[in-house]
Amino acid sequence: MTKNPIIAGLDIGTYAIKFLVAEERPDGRGFEVLGRRITLTEGVRKGVVNDSKKLTDKISETLEQVEREAGRQVGGVYVNINGSHLFCISSEGLVSVSRADQKISEQDLERVIEAAKTFSLPSNKEIIEVIPQEYVIDDQDGIKEPLGLEGIRLEAKILAVGGFSPYIDRASETVIRAGLDVRDMFLGSAAASETVLDSQEKELGVAVVDLGAATTSIAVYEEGEMIHTAVLPIGMQNVRNDIAIGLRVSIDAAEKILEEMGTHILGEATAKRKAVDVSGEKDVSFKEKDLKEIARARIEEIFELVEKELEKIERAGLLPAGIVLTGGGAKLDNLVGFVKKKTQLPVRTGAPKDFYPSQEDPSLSTVCGLIKLGSRVEKKSGLIDFRFDKGLGKKIKKILRIFIP
Ligand SMILES: Nc1ncnc2c1ncn2[C@@H]1O[C@H](COP(=O)(O)OP(=O)(O)OP(=O)(O)O)[C@@H](O)[C@H]1O
Ligand SMILES: [Mg+2]
Repeated sequence: MTKNPIIAGLDIGTYAIKFLVAEERPDGRGFEVLGRRITLTEGVRKGVVNDSKKLTDKISETLEQVEREAGRQVGGVYVNINGSHLFCISSEGLVSVSRADQKISEQDLERVIEAAKTFSLPSNKEIIEVIPQEYVIDDQDGIKEPLGLEGIRLEAKILAVGGFSPYIDRASETVIRAGLDVRDMFLGSAAASETVLDSQEKELGVAVVDLGAATTSIAVYEEGEMIHTAVLPIGMQNVRNDIAIGLRVSIDAAEKILEEMGTHILGEATAKRKAVDVSGEKDVSFKEKDLKEIARARIEEIFELVEKELEKIERAGLLPAGIVLTGGGAKLDNLVGFVKKKTQLPVRTGAPKDFYPSQEDPSLSTVCGLIKLGSRVEKKSGLIDFRFDKGLGKKIKKILRIFIP
């Protein structure tokens, strides 16, 4: 019997590399996890590769472990892109329908997307994803699936997501040097959304907030499509560093305090002294009240910045399905209640769905989402592929994808 093809996802986080190998279940309902490795990262700063050599070594090490665990060889991976260099632009394009019978064809869709992409970008920036928001045929707007419909003028409204080319190239080159083929790269928050949101939330209006170690990524959805994205250069390591400085403890102690004492950061805190056990250190103790004061201020700041992003697109306080928190920071105790109060929106924590055995950890949302998106790419014909070679042989493939719901 032939084995199902395996799909591999690699989330290069600032704190941890998450490498997951899975195969789709025979009934098509979810994914069987064959191997999973989480390794502390080296060579990444604020979501961007800054030491390619160190990171290559870490990825190779993780690859070896995950292949051993899965008992299968991994040839290609789906990889995330992160960093505050990522941006999005809304744009529109217009073409005349080309067929004599006026039925809209695949070629018309390709042409109209190309037309919508003709905005000027500095030479060192590139578009990595194009998300059609809606089509307008003659004067009929709000069309999501125009293929085969009749008309004379076809207009597309798109959201284009892009980033700084040298950073994107460096990330893919690093993965290639570790011996892997980069099948495709996806925006991290788009990948995470794929596994933490349901289609109703995307339809109603929702924001995914991925609280990572050094970045907070936001992806906002409405009427089924992404309408905005941004990456803020701030995350849980900032909170940890504040704790280390403010309570005069080591970084390791601060990390432990952050992960274990969340209830005192965002919940009730008394004047009592608390202590944590950190190997090799003695007497790590502090006042609950001091911890709360120090750490809470930074978390407040992160969510004020998130609200500012929502204000930019006039959605502050206006998303019916609210906010879904994910990423390692979403594990902070009492965060849901805190964000609810602050934003006056419904808030929940989102972790990967449809993986067996269950991967109920919010820090695995991006890697699980990469597998879901990867499986969709591999299945879907009718993708519009713009693959191009960037001088590193055939291994770098950049696919500018049209997200079709
Ligand atoms: N229980 C917890 N409470 C608070 N923070 C936590 C908890 N567990 C983990 N974290 C924090 O989550 C962060 C790691 O999350 P994650 O793995 O999502 O980050 P990353 O993907 O490596 O980083 P980035 O996305 O910014 O590149 C660490 O900074 C860690 O301190
Ligand atoms: Mg991350």
